[in-house]
Amino acid sequence: MPDAPIYLDYAATAAIRPPQVADAMMAYLRDVGATPGRAGHSRAVEAGRVAFRCRRALARVFGVRGDPGRIAFQLNATHALNVALQGVLRPGDRVVRTSYDHNAVRRPVAALARNGVSETVLAGRSDGSFDLDEAERALAGARLLVLSHASNVLGTVAPVAELAARAHAHGALVLVDASQSAGHIPVDVEGMGIDLLAFTGHKGLLGPQGTGGLYVREGVEIDPIFTGGTGGESGPSGVPEAMPDRLEAGTQNGPGIAGLLAGVEWVLGRGVESIHARQSALKERLHERLSSVPGLRLLSPAAPEGAGIVTVTVDGIDPSHMAARLDRDFGVMTRAGLHCAPEAHRILGTEATGAVRFSVGWATMEAEVDHAAEAVAALVSETMPACAG
Ligand code: ALA
Repeated sequence: MPDAPIYLDYAATAAIRPPQVADAMMAYLRDVGATPGRAGHSRAVEAGRVAFRCRRALARVFGVRGDPGRIAFQLNATHALNVALQGVLRPGDRVVRTSYDHNAVRRPVAALARNGVSETVLAGRSDGSFDLDEAERALAGARLLVLSHASNVLGTVAPVAELAARAHAHGALVLVDASQSAGHIPVDVEGMGIDLLAFTGHKGLLGPQGTGGLYVREGVEIDPIFTGGTGGESGPSGVPEAMPDRLEAGTQNGPGIAGLLAGVEWVLGRGVESIHARQSALKERLHERLSSVPGLRLLSPAAPEGAGIVTVTVDGIDPSHMAARLDRDFGVMTRAGLHCAPEAHRILGTEATGAVRFSVGWATMEAEVDHAAEAVAALVSETMPACAG
């Protein structure tokens, strides 16, 4: 057993965060405590300042060169995706999505199908790549393309800029789910042709759960799915046209936003390129070490441009059992199962039992990756004779 348990589930959440995040949340609760935009007193003004600084820091992470107010805070990526999909799609519209979508996309689109929205699903290949000709055909006449920047199952990145150019040529908008890329992989909404970007705060941006947001490009029309108080323009019965108020009805998560600001500042201080390079090297190291384990199938390709995810199966070992043994007997935390992405597992042939996902993060050390690979090898060598017998 290692001296301390090894956390390799950063794709689920950054359960280990820089200490500045908790400190910022405590300081906010103690010294600020108010809600942005809800009064003119000094605590509310300070709350507004924190929210503005957070929006501005997020704009830097995502390459938003214009108004940071185009980023509206949301509870998480699921929330942001629902707001985007329901806010943009109308009965009769068709949306193009992919088999590598998380249920946070698949289920809202299925719900919209009951309101007359149809879908075309791009199959995707087992190495995480897509057939661009198939995409070209599917995009003709579509209203929206939605896709994950990085797969939460494989870690592979989608060719966002290429697909966005094709979508725009057909007059479709582009919504990107940056759950697995925000803070891990460079994102440039303007350079990549992204009209709407949904992100969560609690993974690569190192904020707390209950934070995230939606970027909406200037000029994109979106109807709010939640209406209510926005602090200003209180007279009319409709919510304001202006962002971010349009998508921020109700009291915002002030302490969460303060924690997210601290996380994003940590990310900006380190630099997303440098975080990505470090995490890629750790992923490659784990990939290489696991590749020699007998009976182990590496589902994630060795793709340095992707997220820090290595997903595997082992012949004769149930993934849930493997993850439980890694945790209990070797002190290695992973995530097993379908990872809320059953269509991706269908493509990989793992839909029956899923797979085991290792995911590295900002605090992962080389020695931890080595220990995890040794743990898998030990588990396999003690299990295989039993399986054979
Ligand atoms: N979507 C997160 C994951 O893939 C929770 O684990």
